[in-house]
Amino acid sequence: MQVSILVGTMTGTAELVAGDIKKALEGKGHAVEILLMDNLKSDVFQRPGAFLICTSTYGQGDVPDNARDFLADLRTARPDLTGKLVGIVGLGDSTYQDTFNHGGRQFEETLASLNASLVGERMQHNASGGSLPEEDGVAWALDWVEQVEPLAQAA
Ligand SMILES: Cc1cc2nc3c(=O)[nH]c(=O)nc-3n(C[C@H](O)[C@H](O)[C@H](O)COP(=O)(O)O)c2cc1C
Repeated sequence: MQVSILVGTMTGTAELVAGDIKKALEGKGHAVEILLMDNLKSDVFQRPGAFLICTSTYGQGDVPDNARDFLADLRTARPDLTGKLVGIVGLGDSTYQDTFNHGGRQFEETLASLNASLVGERMQHNASGGSLPEEDGVAWALDWVEQVEPLAQAA
């Protein structure tokens, strides 16, 4: 299966997590490409296969700067994402208690409103939780891809 990982990041953690997920999924025979969200448009969802949104949270529950235009384009262009299989790997920090992982949540809400099929429960890494985001991300993604594969085959 082809998997596109779309990365929103401020200081590179989400990109690191995406890199480790890529290696893990390639080890399971999948073809994985990482795309930074800079300059992405909503038409990226025309690619075949499944999608992972891998994003952190900044400011007051905002998506990272490099994800802003992409999220705005999704909300403006409103493509019909029916049948698109998507998972969300969110990074955050619970010290920001009112906005914990709201970056991933913003993508989840927007993609759900465009009829995308959200597979798995949105991952919410907590930088204050003591676990490594890349380890949590890989474990989450291996479980996610097992849920997605049969859905992709049935489509
Ligand atoms: C200035 C600043 C603001 C942040 N705001 C939030 C926030 O509102 N909610 C949250 O859950 N995490 C917040 N975080 C935590 C980051 O999302 C977390 O450290 C993440 O792992 C960073 O990933 P990145 O390097 O890919 O951007 C913030 C971090 C910084 C430095």
